[in-house]
Amino acid sequence: MTGAQGFIGRYFVAHVLEALPDVRILGVGRSPEQRDHFTHHITWRGPVLAPLTAPLAAAARDPRYGYVPLDLNDRPRLSELLAQFRPDTVVHLAAALRDDPPEHLVSSNVGSLVSLIEAIVGGDLPPPLLVLGSSGAVYGAATTVPIDEQSACSPLDPYAVSKVAAENMASVLVQRYGLQTICARIFNPLGPGQDERHVCGRICSQIAAIAAGLADPVLELGTLTATRDFVDVRDVARALFCLIERGQAGATYNVGSGMETSVQQVLDLALRGARLTGAVRLRPMPARPSDISRLVGRTDRLAALGFTCIHDLADSLQEIVDYYLALGDRAQEDRGEASNLYQVEVRSHHSYPVHVEPGLLAELPGRLEQRFGRRRCVLVSEARVARLYAEPLLYGCRQVGLDAHLLIVGEGETSKSLTHFQELVNRLQGLGVARRSVLVNIGGGMVCDLGGFVASAYLRGIPYVNVPTSLLAQHDAAIGGKVAVNTPLAKNFVGAFHHPTAVYCDPAALRTLHRRDLAAGVAEAIKVALCGEPRLFQLLETRADALLDARDPKLLTEVVQRSAARKIALLAPDPLEVDLRRVLNLGHTLAHPLEVEFGYEGIRHGEAVALGLAVATQVAVERGTCPEKDGDRILRLLAAYELPPRLPLDRCEAACSHLGAIRLVRDGRLHFVLPSGIGTVEIVPELDEVELVAALRALSRHPAIGWRLAA
Ligand SMILES: NC(=O)c1ccc[n+]([C@@H]2O[C@H](COP(=O)([O-])OP(=O)(O)OC[C@H]3O[C@@H](n4cnc5c(N)ncnc54)[C@H](O)[C@@H]3O)[C@@H](O)[C@H]2O)c1
Repeated sequence: MTGAQGFIGRYFVAHVLEALPDVRILGVGRSPEQRDHFTHHITWRGPVLAPLTAPLAAAARDPRYGYVPLDLNDRPRLSELLAQFRPDTVVHLAAALRDDPPEHLVSSNVGSLVSLIEAIVGGDLPPPLLVLGSSGAVYGAATTVPIDEQSACSPLDPYAVSKVAAENMASVLVQRYGLQTICARIFNPLGPGQDERHVCGRICSQIAAIAAGLADPVLELGTLTATRDFVDVRDVARALFCLIERGQAGATYNVGSGMETSVQQVLDLALRGARLTGAVRLRPMPARPSDISRLVGRTDRLAALGFTCIHDLADSLQEIVDYYLALGDRAQEDRGEASNLYQVEVRSHHSYPVHVEPGLLAELPGRLEQRFGRRRCVLVSEARVARLYAEPLLYGCRQVGLDAHLLIVGEGETSKSLTHFQELVNRLQGLGVARRSVLVNIGGGMVCDLGGFVASAYLRGIPYVNVPTSLLAQHDAAIGGKVAVNTPLAKNFVGAFHHPTAVYCDPAALRTLHRRDLAAGVAEAIKVALCGEPRLFQLLETRADALLDARDPKLLTEVVQRSAARKIALLAPDPLEVDLRRVLNLGHTLAHPLEVEFGYEGIRHGEAVALGLAVATQVAVERGTCPEKDGDRILRLLAAYELPPRLPLDRCEAACSHLGAIRLVRDGRLHFVLPSGIGTVEIVPELDEVELVAALRALSRHPAIGWRLAA
């Protein structure tokens, strides 16, 4: 749904999550994700972001809901998102603000709708039902009330004009493309948290401030005789849901209470609820030319679907006043520490290039010089890679005049620890490395994770670039900004999100990689292939021998490019792991405890992932959610890359008992990602250890990989 963080959007999400236990909702909107506030301000001792009510905040955190900040006019990202999520219903509520400049109204209200429709029809999607919500103001100055859906729209201001234009544009486009659409014309919603531009919000906020003793008993209001069709926002949410379930495609529905109520009546009800009747004076506000004197919708069409409003206007107004008074209590509690409540908004936007070019290492000194000029570059690497690539790179950097240094840690996953983190920090400090210096991590995923974490913390964060040299690091570990070290009890337990400034991959460097490390890198490529890239899966199936030989730079480059592109597509909208990125955990929920069980020695990360993939596949096959022939293909592909390695079955079973540490990271809930076919996955709630152990035992009998799990 679009406009997911708007007033109606929030209530709609909460309602659908409550009504449908198995639903998944992907919200998009222009604003960054907010889990505690709406994106608009209200007034309480000055402007504050309107807090979400408890049910709305719970909905924002519900694992079935994810949010992605997205400008709908960004067609490529929108198409990508639709292709991944494949919605069966799209609810479009996004809209510009009433007072935005006209050109912005057009691009937001019309342009984004066109973009949305074209992204839907341009993608390879089963066509979803499209529900378009527009505000009741589309009718403008009506000549007869109540207004039915056949009444002509006579918009009075640029906002309403753009909404009518959007509706008209939609009706032409959806006919052309044969889409199923329902239009909802929403009248005057009210409810806790609403914007004070709307009359109920304005009245209730002032009344609450008077009741709390924060304001003089004077209310500023426009005309009191104007009438509206006020409808509780929760009824609007119910009505939209009813339209999805029972509405007739191609039809337009008024969404309102069907009751004509004057502003004076609203005022009287709200004052009575706050026990302020007769205790306030009115100060009139100037009328606006676009003010409409009478507005009420005929709601028979909606009623014919069996819908009735259940919220009473007086109760709704009372709840809005109570919402403000609760804010007052909160502010009161805060007052011990501070005399005012401030709101800090944090926005961040980061993008960086990922270069994949065979032979790039030879050019890297020049490129680093161009990019970082006089800044000091500290190369971080490990023993084996240092001999092969980091030392020549150091030499090259110095040749081009860079102030370059090289720090080397021991090879292997055990170096990804707090001890080595501390050691590197000490050595950087010893070198006098300052904030403008740049770390250059050159090595496999271990070096990228460790060096990236040091960069995230040293002087509260310094820039770094990744020069990944293993297959796994080139298409996966070096990209995405997740940096961490392990603790003895849990993998990647201490870390941060800190993105590199650039990533430089030279697939030619993979030629020196051991066969076992190549195979470990393929395991992560199989994972991303299962997350929506079936062509990569086929490529890996047909070229196993050539890949393991590592002699074909074109093939290696293609695998890196395809896998990296898939990972980037999955994480681009979701840099902080909230929704799309979660599927990348496929195979990892078991892989991490397995690495813990082995003390991070004797098993590669990719190998552990391979076992995790095999187990996830087996579970999905046993549950009947993945066809047996697809499951078999996945297991045979792993076997073609000599994956997983030979592992004692009892140690694998013991790994299941470490899942608790991962539960801790995931707020007590352990979601598993399971393949549901070649290129598709699903996220399922909590899997118990018994099911995992049963899958491990079944795998140990599988004809292709059974012998790898020795009893
Ligand atoms: N941050 C992320 O998003 C992310 C994603 C996936 C994996 N990881 C992490 O990556 C790590 C695993 O990465 P890895 O498999 O690269 O392990 P690694 O860094 O330990 O490298 C594996 C082996 O390959 C060798 N090597 C690397 N490049 C070489 C080359 N060009 N020629 C010869 N030998 C070379 C190394 O010396 C090492 O022995 C794990 O710690 C894992 O948690 C992180």
